Amino acid sequence: MTQAAATQAASEADAAARPAFDPRDFRHALGSFATGVTIITAQGADGRRVGLTCNSFASVSLDPPLVLWSIVVHSPSLATFQEASHFTVNVLGRSQADLAMKFARPAEDKFEGVDWTPGRGSAPVLAGTIASFECRNAYRYYGGDHVIFLGEVEAYSYHRDEPLLFSRGAFGSFVPAS
Ligand SMILES: Cc1cc2nc3c(=O)[nH]c(=O)nc-3n(C[C@H](O)[C@H](O)[C@H](O)COP(=O)(O)O)c2cc1C
Repeated sequence: MTQAAATQAASEADAAARPAFDPRDFRHALGSFATGVTIITAQGADGRRVGLTCNSFASVSLDPPLVLWSIVVHSPSLATFQEASHFTVNVLGRSQADLAMKFARPAEDKFEGVDWTPGRGSAPVLAGTIASFECRNAYRYYGGDHVIFLGEVEAYSYHRDEPLLFSRGAFGSFVPAS
């Protein structure tokens, strides 16, 4: 058996051994994990700006300063994120659910009517957010139907306003546990 045939046979065996989860139920289970909400932005070499609402953001490392997020492989924005030198993670505040919805729908120009300034690599830094992390587009990893982006933070800013949260398919705000 050739190496390629062996690899394909192994991956078919893996698929057969995998549990057959109902995708909708699996999403509901994952929704038990509450998150913040970000909009990740970038500008490609051709000047095309992209941005998507994203809750897969996570901090990874303090030294060096690394963060990650992931994007579905069929996203029309993926090619631009892959070629861009930088991306910006914009962390949304409690009153920015409308902005989150705007960037969660495909559109020709999601930035129309949005206040922003160019950050590192011209990746848009959105106005009125509670934090932004300007990242060098450092590493990419393939994980099933998503591509994971790992960024090295080159600049950041924040202020201590209330974050927008996302849990079980709905936006909300933080209430301290009593
Ligand atoms: C709260 C929330 C979180 C989301 N998180 C992600 C994510 O982490 N990765 C992803 O690929 N899509 C995520 N999405 C969906 C994208 O925002 C949506 O598919 C968007 O249209 C993608 O942009 P594009 O169509 O311009 O590529 C999320 C949507 C919402 C509302």
